[in-house]
Amino acid sequence: MLRWSSFLARVPRIHSLPRHTRYTTRSGPSSRPDPFVLLAPQLSDLRHSLLSLLDSGHPRLSEITRYYFLHPSKQIRPIIILLFARATNGLGRQWEQKLWEAQHTAAGGRAEELDWPLSRPDVLNDWNPSMPTNTAPFNSPFTLRPLTPHRPPAPKRPTPTTPAPPALYDATYVLPTQTRLAQIVEMMHTASLLHDDVIDESALRRGSPSAPAAFGNKLSILGGNFVLARASGALSRLGDPEVTDLIASVLSNLVEGEILQTKAVETSAGGVQAEGKETHAVRIQHAWNIYLQKTYLKTASLMAKGARAAVTLGGCKEGDIWREIAYAYGRNLGIAFQLVDDILDYDSASATLGKPGGADLQLGLTTGPALYAWEEHPVMGALIQRKFEAPGDVEMARDYVARSSALQRTRELAQSYADKAMEVLQQLPESEAKSALEVLAERVIRRKS
Ligand code: FPP
Ligand code: MG
Repeated sequence: MLRWSSFLARVPRIHSLPRHTRYTTRSGPSSRPDPFVLLAPQLSDLRHSLLSLLDSGHPRLSEITRYYFLHPSKQIRPIIILLFARATNGLGRQWEQKLWEAQHTAAGGRAEELDWPLSRPDVLNDWNPSMPTNTAPFNSPFTLRPLTPHRPPAPKRPTPTTPAPPALYDATYVLPTQTRLAQIVEMMHTASLLHDDVIDESALRRGSPSAPAAFGNKLSILGGNFVLARASGALSRLGDPEVTDLIASVLSNLVEGEILQTKAVETSAGGVQAEGKETHAVRIQHAWNIYLQKTYLKTASLMAKGARAAVTLGGCKEGDIWREIAYAYGRNLGIAFQLVDDILDYDSASATLGKPGGADLQLGLTTGPALYAWEEHPVMGALIQRKFEAPGDVEMARDYVARSSALQRTRELAQSYADKAMEVLQQLPESEAKSALEVLAERVIRRKS
């Protein structure tokens, strides 16, 4: 059995990272692009064409699966993907191959080919009234079909004489596969929200009735499953097993994160080997480790693995540093994003922005600010232990947080993760997309909703 002393020796004291290691970017704020403005046209196209991926023969199903896309998110996940594509395309060892595939019919990388089924259409869409020509009827036995291929044969790429030296390809070019990945990742995020709003019994999302409030729990769950199914089909058509593996693992991470979140925080001495004064600190450290692990699984994993997958689709393979940069950026940014989210939950002003302040405490969740407040006010441990369930607990917990440096310290911790995200970017060649990624990290910290 792992003893506490050896366990703690292995665990970095992340919540006590130095407070004043601000990372500053080289160029001034005025010269840097706003990622949301820079990508506004692409994000609008992306959202619009995404809706066609959700078509179904059942109007009610189509209605619910489209619902959250009609009240769009901040689209931070697609932004990360599109920016990393722009910031790294041309650098990967297999870039020329990927570009060639995007330009040649039947090579697998052209935009329209990403909609072609990999299996013959009457098998894949075996019941879809909105595709009558591709659907076999059920009122007669199914007969063997002619062995005609349904996709044109793949062309062979001529062997290039001299490979081009690695250099950024074009400031704005994104491969069709990378654009599709941005849609897939947004679909997975939305599917998880359709389920999350059932679990959290949320009445509102983005200022409007949540999907369960508008359609009921059953349709919300089934709608989420349907969005996931369509995203999985689109993922397989990207034709990259490594990317499929990576993005599929995000789904397990989301579920693991959600489960870990429900785990009670260990606030009593039972099972903890340390003695005396140290015990309180040891328990808090343990709770921080679980909280940060949950934060990675639930929030940062999709950003980190999505960014890595985008760079992989651009032809960066094992041994290319660009993929490692993308993953490290997404992971740090994702944790910073969630820490700020957890701060905003204590901000009563956020209630006016369509999100009830204090929702986490109402759900019994202990987040970063509560952990810091517990450190300063040990009596907070009892409230955490009983998941703020006793009358007055929520108000008392908010009061302890307000009377401590918890929110300030959580903000500093978020800043340290955002600084790290900006620092890892410095190895990328200069580009507008790189600057926009820097700005994005700053905006994540400054956001108010
Ligand atoms: C929002 O968190 C929820 C998530 C980021 C992930 C939820 C994951 C699941 C429900 C697991 C199932 C996953 C899939 C893909 C079906 P929040 O409740 O803290 O934020 P909120 O205030 O926006 O609701
Ligand atoms: Mg929720």
